[in-house]
Amino acid sequence: MEETNKFQTDSNHSLISPIRCSHPDAERWNGRYQSDGKYQQQGHPSQLLQDFAYLLPPGGVVLDAAAGVGLNALFAAQQGMKVVALDISEVGLRLLRQKAAELGVVVDTAVFDLITPYFPPNCVDVLLNFRFLERAAFPAYRQALRPGGLLFFETFVHTEAGDTPTYLLEPGELPQAFADFEIVHSVETAVRGPRSGKWRDIAQLIARKKGD
Ligand SMILES: C[S@@+](CC[C@H](N)C(=O)[O-])C[C@H]1O[C@@H](n2cnc3c(N)ncnc32)[C@H](O)[C@@H]1O
Repeated sequence: MEETNKFQTDSNHSLISPIRCSHPDAERWNGRYQSDGKYQQQGHPSQLLQDFAYLLPPGGVVLDAAAGVGLNALFAAQQGMKVVALDISEVGLRLLRQKAAELGVVVDTAVFDLITPYFPPNCVDVLLNFRFLERAAFPAYRQALRPGGLLFFETFVHTEAGDTPTYLLEPGELPQAFADFEIVHSVETAVRGPRSGKWRDIAQLIARKKGD
């Protein structure tokens, strides 16, 4: 089986796309992106990213993990960042590339499984994780960020009693998981979905890797 979870770096430590292949969940996400016309339209990047865009280091490398159709990746590229977008859905990434061409920006894309990822140490300035949770990827996020690099994280929180789906955070979990980082912003609140407009409980974290 081909490997989808390894990056290599060239001599400048820039990211090179890994080999492409399929993933069991990719079919579901590909179908959704293909059949639901809302994904063909322009949506809004995360308000968190917009509000804290001033923290983005000019010209830095941004890794958008589980980028989907890339609302946040495109926004970062429009801010002059070098952006790499990863997702298991090649359809989502194709829509992202089409939108990037329309907007006149460049975003590198790679089909990539974040369940057991490997990233080389200290290769990105900013890591984006929006509306996606794969706890097994946390060590790789930690490794990929350069000292001083920023993690932007926003995803859904489990707020009611009962079973916790694995893709929902527990209240307070996010700042605890990155307690070794400098916490710049940490909030649990309700926000509207970028396309559905539905209110959802979410946790937001912006955290800086120490050691700069
Ligand atoms: C709710 S969407 C979020 C997309 C984008 N981050 C945003 O906020 O608009 C979740 C994304 O996670 C991707 N995904 C699911 N499992 C994944 C995995 N194991 N590795 C990489 N991407 C995955 C899906 O294909 C989908 O695009």
